[in-house]
Amino acid sequence: MARRISRRKKPSKEDFVLKPERKIESEVFDRDTLLVLSKMIKKGIIANVDYPISTGKEANIFRATTSSGEFVAVKIYKLETAPFFRKAEYLEGDPRFMGIKGGDRNIVLAFARKEFKNLKICEATGINAPRPLYMQRHVLVMSFIGDTTGLPFQTMNMCGPRGESDMNSILDNIKKMYHAGLVHADISEYNIMMSAPPTLIDFGQGVILSHPRAMEFLERDVRNILKYFEKHGIKLDFGKTMGWIKK
Ligand SMILES: Nc1ncnc2c1ncn2[C@@H]1O[C@H](COP(=O)(O)OP(=O)(O)OP(=O)(O)O)[C@@H](O)[C@H]1O
Ligand SMILES: [Mg+2]
Repeated sequence: MARRISRRKKPSKEDFVLKPERKIESEVFDRDTLLVLSKMIKKGIIANVDYPISTGKEANIFRATTSSGEFVAVKIYKLETAPFFRKAEYLEGDPRFMGIKGGDRNIVLAFARKEFKNLKICEATGINAPRPLYMQRHVLVMSFIGDTTGLPFQTMNMCGPRGESDMNSILDNIKKMYHAGLVHADISEYNIMMSAPPTLIDFGQGVILSHPRAMEFLERDVRNILKYFEKHGIKLDFGKTMGWIKK
């Protein structure tokens, strides 16, 4: 019997003990996903899919292990759901993804490609983000953001920020991204993992600066961060921060 994965549930430490009955069974994956995963295993990209880190409406994230015993994260975009209509605005206007036609599947595939490309820009620019390792169709493999025992770090919404240094690091990353021509467009405490320094994740919505709404998305990202840190007693001026980012 396949284990049913509850939506959005964040696993506790006990959940990560790999008991035999916790092994992921094939019923968890649809045919398309199984095909991609088995190709990745044949190619030696991963050796084993270990357990689900997060199950959401748009993607599931698994921890996996490579043949050399390294942990990686595998993000599997959901082909069967179509919540992406709402998000078409992040594709339209991005010259890298002009002319995506057809159904929801193509849009999902474009988002997966987009996240991979955005992570490549981050890697080249020295942003604190997962390193993109491999991508095929709707499956993206990236470096694992977690501790040496194999547990993923918490996201910032789960534990709160550690202080001003976290805010400075995040704003620094936003600035670096801007100067590399990229806007994350979905920054919030839910998309920040608590490594030291913090790691930005979830780059599928990221747009390049020639997107007509890039500045609007940038301002929203910055407002989100300033508002969140203000709630935790750390206040910065929005106008001044924007000026500093663009400098
Ligand atoms: N590279 C990574 N290493 C470890 N854990 C990760 C990694 N990337 C994502 N995660 C975990 O998976 C969760 C969901 O990832 P992400 O934000 O990229 O997906 P999502 O697009 O928000 O999915 P959905 O919207 O369907 O929930 C994160 O909150 C984090 O806990
Ligand atoms: Mg997310």
